[in-house]
Amino acid sequence: MLSNFSFHHVGYATKSIEKTSKVFQELGYTISDTSFDTLQHVKIALLKKKDSPQIELVEMIDETSPVSKILEKNGVTTYHVCYEVQDIELAIAELRKQKFVLLFNPVVAVALDNRLICYLFHKDVGLIELLQK
Ligand code: NI
Repeated sequence: MLSNFSFHHVGYATKSIEKTSKVFQELGYTISDTSFDTLQHVKIALLKKKDSPQIELVEMIDETSPVSKILEKNGVTTYHVCYEVQDIELAIAELRKQKFVLLFNPVVAVALDNRLICYLFHKDVGLIELLQK
């Protein structure tokens, strides 16, 4: 099912990009500038390290942030995997056939070069994010 999807990043929910990134930086990651995503109501930073999957830190701004419930339940945790796709609408249609539910229509993500993203949920898989190439 994921043959045309390429891994892009794993997403962490955090209450503090500063505190979480400090630990990753000690592990050899470099951090991008933090962006403020008004649509998703979160702050976002990306962590990179040679030969390692990219990590996205998603910080809640307040209780209305989509990650606030995840943080309340689990504390800092990974919560989504993002795949890059050639055609986001086609990929959504493909995942819907596999019983994924689209959480919202694609929106522009400031932290990811203003490319389109969306999230889908599957009860046996959890959250997947799609990123338009
Ligand atoms: Ni993400």
